Amino acid sequence: DVPIPTPAWRPLVHFTPRQHWINDPNGLVKVGEVYHLFYQHNPQGSDHANMSWGHASSRDLLRWQEHDVALPGREAHAIFSGSAVVDTHNTSGLGRSGDASPPVVALYTGAGHSWQAQYLAYSRDAGETWHFGPDQPVLDEGRADFRDPKVFWHGPSGRWVKVVVYPDERQIALYGSPDLHVWTPLSVFGPAGETGGIWEVPDLFPLTDEAGQEHWVMKVDVFAGGPQGGTGAQYFVGDFDGTVFTPHTPARWADYGKDFYAAITWSGTPGRRLWTAWQSSWDYATRLPTHPWRGALTLARELGLRRGPDGEPWLTQKPLRELDSLRDRQVSLHLTPEAPAVLPLMPERALDLCLTLTPGTHLSLRLTSEAGDELSVEADLGSGTLTLKRPACGLLADVAGFGGTHAAPLPPVENGALDLRILLDTSSVELFTGGGLLALSDLYFPEAMPQRLHLSATEGEVTGVGWTLRAVAPGETR
Ligand code: FRU
Repeated sequence: DVPIPTPAWRPLVHFTPRQHWINDPNGLVKVGEVYHLFYQHNPQGSDHANMSWGHASSRDLLRWQEHDVALPGREAHAIFSGSAVVDTHNTSGLGRSGDASPPVVALYTGAGHSWQAQYLAYSRDAGETWHFGPDQPVLDEGRADFRDPKVFWHGPSGRWVKVVVYPDERQIALYGSPDLHVWTPLSVFGPAGETGGIWEVPDLFPLTDEAGQEHWVMKVDVFAGGPQGGTGAQYFVGDFDGTVFTPHTPARWADYGKDFYAAITWSGTPGRRLWTAWQSSWDYATRLPTHPWRGALTLARELGLRRGPDGEPWLTQKPLRELDSLRDRQVSLHLTPEAPAVLPLMPERALDLCLTLTPGTHLSLRLTSEAGDELSVEADLGSGTLTLKRPACGLLADVAGFGGTHAAPLPPVENGALDLRILLDTSSVELFTGGGLLALSDLYFPEAMPQRLHLSATEGEVTGVGWTLRAVAPGETR
């Protein structure tokens, strides 16, 4: 079968590689003023094979320039997921006097047929070009499945800490190192929360709540049993003493859609905690009908922490503030049961809706094209439910698990209103509500280009603003 090019589905404000397969974001690191994005990539085709680290960079997390593959898959093993840090004090000894920047060091999984171990790679020119470290792994336990190292500097204990997953055991192993080469075991977390499927891609990071108290968040993805069935991302809030992570909350979903997986946080962004996820699901990723690329990343999200409805600390997520720089035209919205609205959609523009719903509101949004309804969202404050429906028609008709209705419990109304932010790109929607307590990310592939967005409040009242967003994906990619 010769694939059909699908330029109309090329996202306008989300990252996609010019061509071929992408899955997890890897090695997210800011060096100086430049954000370096690496990603699981097949440089030769649109299936999950020849795994390598693709590479792109940006100054605003929105306008990406794609570079040569940073870490090409090797004969002995594929290059699986991992992370990168700026080794400011050259603890690794990989820097040389005269280098323009301290070494940037990546830890990744080398994946053979029945073994996985952690390897090191480095850059001496601020992340632009990359070298493989020694051929020996830096951490090998003779395991078949052992992957996705995420490394950070832990100031209080004065060492590097790495979280890495034992997928089958549903456990996360923690290690410490003075120099990124030699790793000693610290502790093991799990099994906990959702354990129905294997675990992948852990992350551990601190966040400060509204009272200024520091907490630690442990995130890990699950292959099955997610909020909509299938893959999902769960997190625990607790403490980390430099050796052991102790959860203080039950597991919660980081995102209630189907398409948020393998998120990791950016390193090198002091004062700001951001993460980016793969915007897809292993349930159907290999069957998505886009061409010449397959896969996308979510927008970077700003993370925060605050007391949630149960008085416990919850993660909050908001689209990165840089997105505001793409705002173009503005319309004011005021919806009541007597006054619905219809927004025409503009070619080459994404949409950013910032809405406020009064208590009891039932808001309905329908995206329509000449082919009919392409997507719908309902926010029903009466029943406390957010629901997204995406049909699977046309090229998606045979893709099992794609079509469906994705429901999530709405956060409670606070201070007399509920906020709802809706980011609509050509083939995805990201929803944020309750001050970021709830996020929902879903792909959709309209059969025909949507022309209108119908908005109505059958109960209550909705006010807000709709912005068009200028496209940032380079023209030649569409
Ligand atoms: C998660 C994952 C990782 C692995 C990588 C392989 O999506 O399965 O566990 O390192 O993708 O591409």
